[in-house]
Amino acid sequence: MATDPRPGEAAPFPQLFAPLALAGRPLKNRITHASMTTRMGREQRLSEAQLRYYANRARGGCALIVTEPLNAWRRQQAPHKLRVWNDDALGGLQRLAAAVESQDCRLLGQIQDPGRGRHERGRNPLAWGASSLPDDLSWTVPHVLSGGELREMVEDFAQSAARLQRAGFSGVEISAGHGHLFHQFMSAWCNQREDDYGGTLDNRLRLTRELIAAIRAACGADFIIGLKLPGDDGVPGSIGPAEAAEIAPRLCTPGAVDYACFTWGAHARSLDMHIPDAHWPRAPFLGITRELKATIPAVPVMAVGLITDPAEAEGILARGEAELIALGRPLVTDPAWPAKARAGRGDIRYCVSCNSCWGRIMEHAPLACDNNPRVAQAEETDYWPAPALRRRRIVVVGSGIAGLEAAWVAAARGHEVTLLAAGGELGGKTRLHARLPGGENLSSTYDYQALAAKRAGVRIEYGLRASAGDIIALAPDAVLLATGSSMAWPRMLPPEWRDEGLVPDLRALMADLVDLAAPQGGTAVLFDMDHTEGTYASAQLLKKLFDRVVIMTPRDRIAEDTPLVTRLGILRRLATLGIEVLPLVEPSPRSRLEEGIVMASNVYTGAEQEIADVSLFTYSTPRVADDALAAPLREAGFELRLVGDCYAPRTVMAATADGHAAGHAL
Ligand SMILES: Cc1cc2nc3c(=O)[nH]c(=O)nc-3n(C[C@H](O)[C@H](O)[C@H](O)COP(=O)(O)O)c2cc1C
Repeated sequence: MATDPRPGEAAPFPQLFAPLALAGRPLKNRITHASMTTRMGREQRLSEAQLRYYANRARGGCALIVTEPLNAWRRQQAPHKLRVWNDDALGGLQRLAAAVESQDCRLLGQIQDPGRGRHERGRNPLAWGASSLPDDLSWTVPHVLSGGELREMVEDFAQSAARLQRAGFSGVEISAGHGHLFHQFMSAWCNQREDDYGGTLDNRLRLTRELIAAIRAACGADFIIGLKLPGDDGVPGSIGPAEAAEIAPRLCTPGAVDYACFTWGAHARSLDMHIPDAHWPRAPFLGITRELKATIPAVPVMAVGLITDPAEAEGILARGEAELIALGRPLVTDPAWPAKARAGRGDIRYCVSCNSCWGRIMEHAPLACDNNPRVAQAEETDYWPAPALRRRRIVVVGSGIAGLEAAWVAAARGHEVTLLAAGGELGGKTRLHARLPGGENLSSTYDYQALAAKRAGVRIEYGLRASAGDIIALAPDAVLLATGSSMAWPRMLPPEWRDEGLVPDLRALMADLVDLAAPQGGTAVLFDMDHTEGTYASAQLLKKLFDRVVIMTPRDRIAEDTPLVTRLGILRRLATLGIEVLPLVEPSPRSRLEEGIVMASNVYTGAEQEIADVSLFTYSTPRVADDALAAPLREAGFELRLVGDCYAPRTVMAATADGHAAGHAL
């Protein structure tokens, strides 16, 4: 575990590690784990993975953890959420509280309900809400909650808070932002009730106000009540910064609320504000947070959203823009972020803002991370591998993120590791992606791996595109082949076009164009059978260089293999930049490239339309493993393992996980 600064050494982030008290309960620093759905609960009970997830983060040094939303009202029955509305799962709640609070970390349970909202396809079958109005994304029309049902809800939430208190929790956070149920009641866009819970702003705030009062009455003054509030939900006619400034002082009075946290976006096209990716500026909502903070001077404010670095957090606190810092994704990636920051260590494994974590939970899979292959494992916090029984000589071929991950883990286990890098830099295709628009944070994956490789003593040979002979000459005990993958030639096009170099693949093209500043003019056509983020980052770059960019895809829409929060941002940027999308088409072999004409052929009817003035035609397609070295190495009798895309082209998450496992398997 991280060490504290030596006696006499100045602590690197004095504001971040200054103590604070909420409801009289001590916080050792200002770092909060923001609520995130883990999808780790089983049948409404605590799972061992879930317990490890929170215990690992408490061990990592944050002062406060807000859990994921809990089933705290008898009608909430989601199997992955912990049951709190009766005693059925009390034992698990007690274990969770003990594991977290014993690390001098306060634990808050989140009270939340999505209301009419849904982030997945289809309608929400269990939706309830303020009024009979459709959800902006899923068009779910909710059951309209009656006065009696609202009273039952408030009563259950208050009793659940008291149960959490008995179980050893320090408080609750009410999630009344992000477009969830309480937010829906606050917003005139979703609430057209004519009873006491609708109409005037005060009426629309009534539900949240009653909830706060009921919890306070049930749990007393020394129980922390945090409140997530809308800061700007990005929906016209709903809650922007001006109305947020009216709401905050009405609800956040001292004694009622112990901290406020302003949130962004809603269950709407603005959902991507909820979890901003790296296309947003860093800490994008700080300006509005500052303005809203001024409306509630007596209540501590928690800043949240794309704050990834301790120096940024320190600056926010030092400038008085907030009293607390919430980290969501950064603590998924590195639970020891606080301890490392406190010790002034430079080896934080940073969040890359890819939102794969969100993608996972939307697939109903447990929370996982592209840049942390060990989420919720027993050994996760400040992880460094234990030595292997026998030191072996290992050659890793390929310095992309799969090979690098395997190399540092194997070397950290005591093996003698030589990494053969074809180029002069580490990180492979991720390094190229990091240079595209919105890719900046991706460098954190290979930067961390390079640091760990150095610490572990990996010997790196640059600039060697190794042949089987080169590898055999090193006489390894085992070889890890991590030579990646290449985009497949679109099979509907004549292979001669590839051989003549008429149609480059998107990756090769980006490597050439990424530094090009001079506009090329004409139309760029991108055939998209990829649907991941890098393809659209490339399209953005193309739009800087070409007059017109057309994306054609055989599916009915684009960006299908990106999480919804990311996809909404992609769609907005493409529309804003005027990038055109042609769905349900493939390029036709009857295209006349020499005349600058690409024909787009409808996948069902074969009807063709012409795209003229084409000066560039490129493709982004499913990849094929670059595993040509496998057969000769196997023949030479080596212990061989294919790693990452070289085994099978998959996701970034699969690449780091595979590399990590390979480094351990030796
Ligand atoms: C995978 C994931 C799940 C989340 N689930 C919740 C949730 O259930 N309740 C909530 O209030 N916020 C949720 N959030 C939002 C976070 O609390 C936080 O506001 C957001 O991630 C921005 O902070 P960050 O940039 O530090 O990640 C979730 C975020 C992520 C990434």
